Amino acid sequence: MKKLDITVLMDAACIPAEDPEFTGGSASDTTEYHVVHALRELKHAVTILGVSDSVQEMVRHLSEHRPDIVFNLTEQFRDDRGMDRHIAGLLELMDVPFTGTGALGLLLCRNKGLCKQLLSSRKVRVPHFVVVPRGKRIHVPKTVSFPLVVKPNLEDGSDGISNASLVYDDEALNARARMVHERYNQSAIAEEYIEGRELYVGVIGNNRLTVLPPREIFLPKPETGGPVLATQRVKFDTDYQKRWNIRFGFGEFEEKQLQNIVRTCKRAYRALQIQDYGRMDVRVTPDGHVVILEANPNPDIAYGEEVAEAASRAGIEYEALVQRVLNLALRRYRSAKS
Ligand SMILES: Nc1ncnc2c1ncn2[C@@H]1O[C@H](COP(=O)(O)OP(=O)(O)O)[C@@H](O)[C@H]1O
Ligand SMILES: [Mg+2]
Repeated sequence: MKKLDITVLMDAACIPAEDPEFTGGSASDTTEYHVVHALRELKHAVTILGVSDSVQEMVRHLSEHRPDIVFNLTEQFRDDRGMDRHIAGLLELMDVPFTGTGALGLLLCRNKGLCKQLLSSRKVRVPHFVVVPRGKRIHVPKTVSFPLVVKPNLEDGSDGISNASLVYDDEALNARARMVHERYNQSAIAEEYIEGRELYVGVIGNNRLTVLPPREIFLPKPETGGPVLATQRVKFDTDYQKRWNIRFGFGEFEEKQLQNIVRTCKRAYRALQIQDYGRMDVRVTPDGHVVILEANPNPDIAYGEEVAEAASRAGIEYEALVQRVLNLALRRYRSAKS
């Protein structure tokens, strides 16, 4: 395996002041550490580069250093998650190979309304929805029925989503949309609530896609009065998880249903121009429909997180996964040039 000169590009806030070279052990449990350590284990030469509110240092470094490839872990620019596409765009302009999705795919996925519009035009099932811009009266079209889930149109990681995001009437919808407008300074999206099993499905590849075994979050039955949405507490608060017996594991499905999940995730991945690796957030309804809730380009690739766990189940251990992402990106770059 060829040893590469790799710049790992990340949000500057993820570089610990006390350990800017990431020489510390696995106690520092972040995605950035995991990726840097894996790359070093793979014997690549690693340079760490942070981006915060200026791209000048990034442009200077990449122009002078010309790495073989950039491992792109950035998720925001100037605290704005929607700006990560411009970092990818800049890498494209500079003609530097980089891992993960490009400017176009990031644009298509980060805007939840745009993403769903595109998917439904490609016959991929998504919840019926309405986007509620700031300062506009809410008009719910006849095609969209309550209950609805109201969320910020551009956020991520269940930001702005709580149990109160599930609304049953106009009044609650208005109140929740107003909260989103005021707190997040952006449009809200109100989607039909999809009842069903919730899956996180990792996909790797470009021309040929590998769909990893679906991870499932086991939420309490609705009649218990427990949470039915994967809020931040549901995802990250271990006491809360214990209280409601929330677990994460692998979803078991009959072969035909599994093939339907695989087909749908592949179609969505391609439609949204995702590159190298991604993760689909999916619900499977009681009558077996596969509905895409959200597409995540450049998903969390930390050791122990959904994508890495699923890759491991498929026989791709962590370092092999990181190397696979590099290989995919390099091959994509070379074939674009040829
Ligand atoms: N239309 C919906 N129907 C059912 N649950 C939803 C819907 N939209 C969001 N949720 C719940 O909220 C969680 C977070 O929503 P998602 O759209 O994935 O946003 P984020 O980008 O914050 O992860 C989902 O994992 C799911 O549990
Ligand atoms: Mg999600």
